[in-house]
Amino acid sequence: LPAKSTVAYRAEKLSATFDRKAFDCGHPRLNDYLWKFALQNQERSIATTYVAVPDGRATTIAGFYAVCTSQLEFQNLPPSMTKGMPRYPVPAMRLAQLAVDKRFTGQGLGEYLVGSALRKAVSISNEVGLVIMIVDAIDEKAATFYEHIGFLRLPHTPQTLCFPLSALE
Ligand SMILES: CC(C)(COP(=O)(O)OP(=O)(O)OC[C@H]1O[C@@H](n2cnc3c(N)ncnc32)[C@H](O)[C@@H]1OP(=O)(O)O)[C@@H](O)C(=O)NCCC(=O)NCCS
Repeated sequence: LPAKSTVAYRAEKLSATFDRKAFDCGHPRLNDYLWKFALQNQERSIATTYVAVPDGRATTIAGFYAVCTSQLEFQNLPPSMTKGMPRYPVPAMRLAQLAVDKRFTGQGLGEYLVGSALRKAVSISNEVGLVIMIVDAIDEKAATFYEHIGFLRLPHTPQTLCFPLSALE
């Protein structure tokens, strides 16, 4: 649960019952993704979206993230992660979208959502090969957020950051 919040949240898989249109994180591209593309992408297994629902507000989306599979070339791994890794691309989970509604920022919800995605990744890594989570930060402010919560910048593309799942086991 978000440490600083008095509101409790559940992370649920997106469905048509949630009020997608009421969501506003201030970023047109991320709003648009939730409003127009998230459900359609989920139905086609392109990316799966999870929403944070505040207690007692069953249809409100306070935040969301979308995840899909990906891979990372060996030469793009942070130097601290190359030991023991094969020279071919390593399997990754991509945090494809993440946003918190403006009404709910600053309460630890962004960190809670990333934690929820990382827990899923660790669970999947017990079933299917998966070693790292990666995220393309939408801007430098978002990159700083990911760095603050423990992500590492990739050496050649610093707006892409990663989190080694081994750090959680
Ligand atoms: C970035 C975003 C997800 C952060 O969500 P949030 O719920 O406000 O963040 P949290 O409250 O969970 O913050 C967790 C920690 O990160 C810090 N933090 C938040 N935004 C930060 C930033 N831009 N830079 C550095 N640190 C930041 C918080 O101070 C907090 O630190 P603390 O626990 O040490 O006090 C949210 O502001 C947002 O949706 N922004 C617009 C969309 C966006 O940029 N998404 C990312 C796309 S890749």
